[in-house]
Amino acid sequence: MQVVKKSLRFVVPPLAVGMVIGATCDFIMDCNDPEPVHYSPQLASTAVFVGGTAGIGRAMVENFGNRTLGNANIVIIGRNRAAAEEIIAQLPKSKDPNVKHEFVQCDVSRMKNVRDATQQVLSRHPKINFLVLTAGLMSTKGRNETEEGLDAKLAVHYYSRWAFIKGFMPALEKAIEGKEDGKVISVLAAGEGQGRIDMTDLGLARTFSLSRAASHAATYNDLMVDEFASRHPGLTFIHAYPGFVRTNLLSSSDSSALQIAGPVLNYLLSPLMLRPNRCATRMWAGVFNHTGGAHQLSSLGRGLETPFHGTLDQRQKLWAHTAQITGVTSK
Ligand SMILES: NC(=O)c1ccc[n+]([C@@H]2O[C@H](COP(=O)([O-])OP(=O)(O)OC[C@H]3O[C@@H](n4cnc5c(N)ncnc54)[C@H](OP(=O)(O)O)[C@@H]3O)[C@@H](O)[C@H]2O)c1
Repeated sequence: MQVVKKSLRFVVPPLAVGMVIGATCDFIMDCNDPEPVHYSPQLASTAVFVGGTAGIGRAMVENFGNRTLGNANIVIIGRNRAAAEEIIAQLPKSKDPNVKHEFVQCDVSRMKNVRDATQQVLSRHPKINFLVLTAGLMSTKGRNETEEGLDAKLAVHYYSRWAFIKGFMPALEKAIEGKEDGKVISVLAAGEGQGRIDMTDLGLARTFSLSRAASHAATYNDLMVDEFASRHPGLTFIHAYPGFVRTNLLSSSDSSALQIAGPVLNYLLSPLMLRPNRCATRMWAGVFNHTGGAHQLSSLGRGLETPFHGTLDQRQKLWAHTAQITGVTSK
């Protein structure tokens, strides 16, 4: 009994402190949350989620499914069929037999897969209202070239995103032709690249490092939304920073140290981390509150104070490089 009492003395105070810190952080985060946004379109909308099988993407699928009470076509593109089927099984169901919730298998680090998946989705969904791009990975390896000659991390964080947007463009345009929403959100690291871009080595074939890959992918996404917006007025293009979110990003990395550290860090830092659903609510608020043009959003779903826009020359050279690398040639 004495031993139990003694151990409780060591366990209870830190737990209590942790709960108070957690509740305080939750309160502060609640105060910062954007106003809840009501979304109830008259026609069934279509949302495509690339990377919707886990983490922030999964939370964005679930949030959207619940908001629309299942009355929206939902397409999850990703690698993990079992996870997608489990998510789809738990979404509210529509009474309309034409509304579908489906999974399309695709490892997005390969541009050929991206082109094939795009065509599959387009053949069933000529109109797309929301394209949500969240596929991502944590890697401690250096340049990890696919057989297509791209670094896998840059392929997932940038090239595949550009290729999906470009490939789905006819369906996004169709949505706004019918006066519906036509919006794209890429969740990565808006503004975090601090404008770093090496115009002499786009794709970092010669000058790769992990930190350059991270900053360049962020800057490429900033430039990507600007250039798409200038070419497609009426559509909305968003690059967002999600904040520090409690997901499996670390534990699913290719480093065994991070695989072990991930759950421990998630536990220890949990009061300071956003739950995926809260992040998803903020990201959707960002999507619903911004219409037309290009936007770089903070983790609150609000416009960044100092977005990076780059020069016309940077945007156009990156565009030409990416079009050639991805091989996507829709209008
Ligand atoms: N969590 C954070 O604190 C944080 C902070 C800043 C930025 N971000 C960025 O936010 C995005 C989402 O992060 P997260 O925390 O939600 O990560 P996560 O929980 O690890 O989820 C990543 C998702 O991407 C998918 N994915 C990865 N590689 C893929 C590939 N080659 N093909 C298809 N799907 C692939 C995963 O699919 P599988 O199920 O097949 O693995 C999973 O669905 C990432 O781009 C990340 O860099 C996150």
